[in-house]
Amino acid sequence: MTRKSPDQLRSARWFAPDDFRSFGHRSRAMQMGYDHADWQGKPVIAILNTWSDIGNCHSHFKQRVEEVKRGVLQAGGFPLELPAISLAENFVKPTTMLYRNLLAIEAEELLRSHPVDGAVLMGGCDKTTPGLLMGALSMGIPAIYMPAGPMLRGNWKGKTLGSGSDAFKYWDERRAGNIDQAQWMEIEGGIARSAGTCMVMGTAATMMGITEALGLALPGASSIPAVDANHQRMATHCGRRIVDMVWEDLTPKKILTRKNFENAITVAMAEGCSTNAIIHLVAMSRRAGEDCAVSLDDFDAFSRKVPVIANIRPSGDKYLMEDFYYAGGMRGLMKTLADGGLLHLDAMTVTGQTVGATLEDAAVYNDDVIRPLSNPIYQEGALAVLRGNLAPDGCVIKPSACSPHLLNHTGPALVFDDYPSLKKAIDDPDLDVTADHVIILRNAGPQGGPGMPEWGMVPVPTKLVKQGVRDMMRISDARMSGTSYGACVLHVAPEAYVGGNLALVKTGDLITVDVPNRRIHMDVSDEELARRRAAWTPPPRRFERGYGYMFSQHIQQADTGCDFDYLETGFGGPTAEPAI
Ligand code: FES
Ligand code: MG
Repeated sequence: MTRKSPDQLRSARWFAPDDFRSFGHRSRAMQMGYDHADWQGKPVIAILNTWSDIGNCHSHFKQRVEEVKRGVLQAGGFPLELPAISLAENFVKPTTMLYRNLLAIEAEELLRSHPVDGAVLMGGCDKTTPGLLMGALSMGIPAIYMPAGPMLRGNWKGKTLGSGSDAFKYWDERRAGNIDQAQWMEIEGGIARSAGTCMVMGTAATMMGITEALGLALPGASSIPAVDANHQRMATHCGRRIVDMVWEDLTPKKILTRKNFENAITVAMAEGCSTNAIIHLVAMSRRAGEDCAVSLDDFDAFSRKVPVIANIRPSGDKYLMEDFYYAGGMRGLMKTLADGGLLHLDAMTVTGQTVGATLEDAAVYNDDVIRPLSNPIYQEGALAVLRGNLAPDGCVIKPSACSPHLLNHTGPALVFDDYPSLKKAIDDPDLDVTADHVIILRNAGPQGGPGMPEWGMVPVPTKLVKQGVRDMMRISDARMSGTSYGACVLHVAPEAYVGGNLALVKTGDLITVDVPNRRIHMDVSDEELARRRAAWTPPPRRFERGYGYMFSQHIQQADTGCDFDYLETGFGGPTAEPAI
């Protein structure tokens, strides 16, 4: 392998020349107490840290970043921490998805504008992983992802609690009058007990796992609980490894091919992944280049051949990410898939080794948590892509998390034009709704939400909950949390707000969702649809200024990953290195 020489380092353009500009860079580094020995001939490593005082899932990053720095120093690099927006899933409104691309821009431009040779990407909470990676892929310098890791299992009176999933479940019980205020408060204090991401197979765990499967994280890194001492050692290892990656010039382009993305889809399916994985992985693959790009149809094709083998909630019934780690973690899962011939073993990783080489000594220690391919928790994959006159560009459902009797369902539509009106109606004891109805929420997509909020797991109307109904068919152009479950059709494209057919449905129209045949259909003639379209008027613009205005000018639909058009790899020529 050829190695870079110190004068070939990107950062040397800032620090090495004997000229007036470089005098400025060096003297201002010295202002911070650094010396020539800190940078001279050394890779400068950017550590993009998504820590903040309200970044609940990343609260250990203040300490972890010191451990990453230690690794960089051990290997002879110069670490520089660069803070990036933390995008705390629970706190950022209307939805972090509005800002995923902002983080992607921030990551790309932080790396481009500073004197850095490589990057450690510290993320984990839902949008931080795709945001950081999309930016780093577009920038193209060597980068390694350091996953935040899942938090510990939740606990309430000896019962295990899972993030999100159990909150929804016990909220239904509270609405049904089975749990009182005092018990609810206890659950509030027991469901999130440590630093780290949601510990079900939600979007965070899915995306951390996918990133490992892509080859962009250290083998095994994604399943280590955030507060385990192994996590600290992993962080230090990331710091050491990125320095070598710089010398080896191991850029994302040299790691990623379509094979890596196919491995990522395979792992996503076997994990019983969050529906959000589709949007993010499509967007990431398009950043990696045309030859890497994957589509909704790829997901559907892989879902038919890869079973769900991670028995983790919400697809599984019992276990959480902590159990997954003890059972062998992502390496155990990938080993199972590899032995079944389902992975490309020659795909490259950040280690400089192939996937196959990194899995050689991997094993499963509990085959109820990571099931063998012969005993999956769900035979067909985690996600299905449906098409039809209600979603000409596709939509997504997670069959593994929905009641089997709803997988082929026809019922009358009950339409809500926006989230506030739905929220108001849902507790109405006189709401005209039965368990057979198909609830439709529209104007909740990328433009309409705005930002495609996680409103897609529309609550079952309280009237029905009291009758014992826990699942019914729901359709929207929104997303849903990876911790959610139920018969929820999501990501309808094109969305209603831009005039997709979803905008034309009326209450009472008969809707069919047929998962085995991948079909979604409203029983309305083409002529009638054309009449309704002629009468449809576009809603007013959501934003008149600011970031939201830019967002609404450039955001693309869910089926192509909701990236901004001008950030895609094929848009214009490559961005030049900054003049110094
Ligand atoms: Fe951060 Fe769920 S809130 S991962
Ligand atoms: Mg989430």
